[in-house]
Amino acid sequence: MISADLIIVNAGELVRVCDNASPLPKRGQTLSELCLISDGALAALDGRIVWTGRTSAIASEVRLLPTGTEIDARGRVVTPGLVDAHTHPVFAAPRAMEFAMRVAGKSYQQIAVEGGGIANSVAKTRAATEDDLYHNAYAVAERMLDFGTTTADAKSGYGLTLADELKMLRVIRRINETHPIDWIPTAMPAHEIPVEFKHAPDDYVELVCREILPVIAREKLARFNDVFFETGVFNHDQSKRIQSVAGELGFGLKFHVDELSDVGGARLAAEMNATSADHLVYISDDGIAALSHANTVAVMLPGTCYFLDLPRKPPVRKMIEAGVAVALATDCNPGSNMTESAQLALNQACVLYKMSPAEALVAATHNAACAVAMSGDIGALVPGLACDIVVWDARDHLEIPYHYGVNLASVVIKNGKRVRGVA
Ligand code: NIG
Ligand code: FE
Repeated sequence: MISADLIIVNAGELVRVCDNASPLPKRGQTLSELCLISDGALAALDGRIVWTGRTSAIASEVRLLPTGTEIDARGRVVTPGLVDAHTHPVFAAPRAMEFAMRVAGKSYQQIAVEGGGIANSVAKTRAATEDDLYHNAYAVAERMLDFGTTTADAKSGYGLTLADELKMLRVIRRINETHPIDWIPTAMPAHEIPVEFKHAPDDYVELVCREILPVIAREKLARFNDVFFETGVFNHDQSKRIQSVAGELGFGLKFHVDELSDVGGARLAAEMNATSADHLVYISDDGIAALSHANTVAVMLPGTCYFLDLPRKPPVRKMIEAGVAVALATDCNPGSNMTESAQLALNQACVLYKMSPAEALVAATHNAACAVAMSGDIGALVPGLACDIVVWDARDHLEIPYHYGVNLASVVIKNGKRVRGVA
């Protein structure tokens, strides 16, 4: 008999996503395998999953401890908690005025050239106290959890000085200490060239390499380092230099690449064995070929395409067919996609990129866990993994991306504890 302190019974569909604790992302046809059990059940102990199977089998195989909790899913769908593999959740203020300007016809790049964009958030983040940033970030974390995200990548990158990048990363650490969600800290001092270095960008690259990244590494404030490799931001050689130093300091590598133009970023990310390459709206055939042979996960951000109304969509079907490991995320940030809802990203991936509902779910759970190097710990309902779960107000998994603009997450469980919902 297996002991449990939490059991869930009567799941119309128990979407396990994987049937073993595989560290590898799903590619090609396996991307749509949900490993689901109908009329499923699950048991957990001390925050880890210990058993999955049919509801009819649980009574003979699992003993619920007297102090344990039983949740009756009453035919609803049960999945792993969503993993949002790319977010910028620490910022001082919204940028709704820029949204209005874009709706009136200005492009994201035009707004940036005129001093808006990332520079706008940098100025406000520098002026904010750590406590102010923490309170705003806490509200973001609350909304993520409301919508079923139990783990998210969380980037710095609106500070762009040593002190301000550390301030942002300390906020991320405080969220981890005080909120049930897990934020995987990603340093991003190379998010933009700060205004004071516009005429000497190489000097800023040196500051990042010689001072900012070594201090962040020493203080163990980030697991990854991310660089915005884009026309007019960091070029190929600067990005490569920064990421070489980051790799030597022990950071996993992430890239914002090929978002607004094809800069050959997918190939550089693959060559540097990056954990993920993100955006990829303008990815070339060469980039697709490079990623299809690499461990690097392609993180697709359909909400940004939608919110910026970009003139092009990334060739996601082609990427999946070529064997690229595809994950999904929101890009949650005040400029290019102001939403905490990874549920919405599921809908957008289906509608805009023609991913199937099953592919989108795998991409937002197990493959997203791979994109933050956490597979084998989160992202699937498999014994040994963390008990991070969403019970959805849906009869089958197709309804999750289909019924949009509402919150279908009715119960959210983090590390075996119910953090949202009552039944
Ligand atoms: O991922 N591309 C660069 N960075 C963010 C946008 C950040 C912002 O506009 O504040 C992105 O889209
Ligand atoms: Fe981003």
